[in-house]
Amino acid sequence: MNSTTTTAPVTEQELIASLPAGFRWGVATSAYQIEGAVDADGRTPSIWDTFCRVPGAIDGGDTGDVACEHYTRMPADVALICELGLDTYRFSVSWSRVQPYGTGPANPAGLAFYDRLVDELLAQGIDPWVTLYHWDLPQELEDAGGWPARDTAYRFADYSMLVFDALSDRVNTWTTLNEPWCSAMLGYAYGVHAPGRQDFPAAVSAVHHLLLGHGLATERMRAASPRKIDIGITLNAATAYPASDAEPDLEAVRRADGMGARLYLDPLVHGRYPADVVADLAEQGVELPVQDGDLATIAAPIDVLGINYYFSQKFTGFGEDGRTVDADGRPVTRTLPLDRPRTAMDWEIVPEGFTDLLVRIGRDYPGLPIVVTENGAAFHDVPDAAGFVADADRTAYFTSHLAAVAAAIRQGADVRGYLAWSLLDNFEWAYGYDKRFGIVRVDYTTQARIPKQSALHLKELAERHRAR
Ligand code: NOJ
Repeated sequence: MNSTTTTAPVTEQELIASLPAGFRWGVATSAYQIEGAVDADGRTPSIWDTFCRVPGAIDGGDTGDVACEHYTRMPADVALICELGLDTYRFSVSWSRVQPYGTGPANPAGLAFYDRLVDELLAQGIDPWVTLYHWDLPQELEDAGGWPARDTAYRFADYSMLVFDALSDRVNTWTTLNEPWCSAMLGYAYGVHAPGRQDFPAAVSAVHHLLLGHGLATERMRAASPRKIDIGITLNAATAYPASDAEPDLEAVRRADGMGARLYLDPLVHGRYPADVVADLAEQGVELPVQDGDLATIAAPIDVLGINYYFSQKFTGFGEDGRTVDADGRPVTRTLPLDRPRTAMDWEIVPEGFTDLLVRIGRDYPGLPIVVTENGAAFHDVPDAAGFVADADRTAYFTSHLAAVAAAIRQGADVRGYLAWSLLDNFEWAYGYDKRFGIVRVDYTTQARIPKQSALHLKELAERHRAR
């Protein structure tokens, strides 16, 4: 957990030379953030459609109703990925488009959209990568208890098979869940994401049922695989740095890393929840609702671990008053600034945290190929008269983080690809459209797409890597 930072390669030439042959260069999106067309062709509401209607939940009162109109503009968007010279496109499937209300048979009209998308990608020579769940639970399943309810895991596995049956003849890489920490904690503990609940024990139940859903879906997809198919999960993770070597600071790091990373990685890879985290939860009277056989299911072998990285943080176990417990007698876990430049999300830019994270995962969870399934940054873009954004800040972010990946590879991490977040400016959840992560600018009045400088830079790096 302590920093193992070594110097990242400095020149782009060195960076490119460090990335293995066959390294994927791609881009990612998610359904609710770009599709719009929320009631087209039989789609029913998800928890995000509902949450966007809660006054004050989303900055500016924004919703995903229209978003980037990707549902109707899909062929042009795929052409854009091709023009940018990227070889992989990771997109998510809207559950309630494919299976309205979250139960029962597939909705052919909804599935047809993803069918066309996959064909379009293949026609352009782009490898399709499906994420089955990127946070948009059908509302009826939330009404029935949501992820804190065990049944949702089984519903997820059923839904996964509807998509798998339709697309697995052409799609080679499958991610079950995107960032289950966010679904559980932001959605059920902090209430800043859909469904907006603030109930920590429910959030901990959600963690287990999300992981169970992943395992059930993985087992069923594997059993039904007509051929070699890569199945995995995507986690958000970071490096937690201690403010000092003092015991309370090291303990704060242990707790932060336990709840943020090991609570997911340990059961997925080792088939057990981390004992220290289970003990911390027990002290708060909270338990993971594990039943016989669950952990074996959760640890169903996977072929790829997706890592989404944005920033790292420094932790202290001392409160502002210097005490190590808060007013409720709980141990303090507090972040402190690393004194780095920040993105528009107010996230500190810490590329070496990326290197340390990848090296550490390779060390603690060996044998699992990693793909960076998201990395990117929001900045305050300023388009010129023609709509072009010379985003030097985002370009530098990509370069420094790709260098960080290269450094991790040189230290032994098995990283097989890098997917930038995101293809398009899009609906950034509770922040609405104000925060722009795209490598392509979207003009929301005309829906025009204009590649930013960062997109052209990624294109050049990918081309140089391929040609070396
Ligand atoms: C990770 C999430 O998967 C994605 O949906 C989100 O837009 C980015 N982080 C940026 O916050």
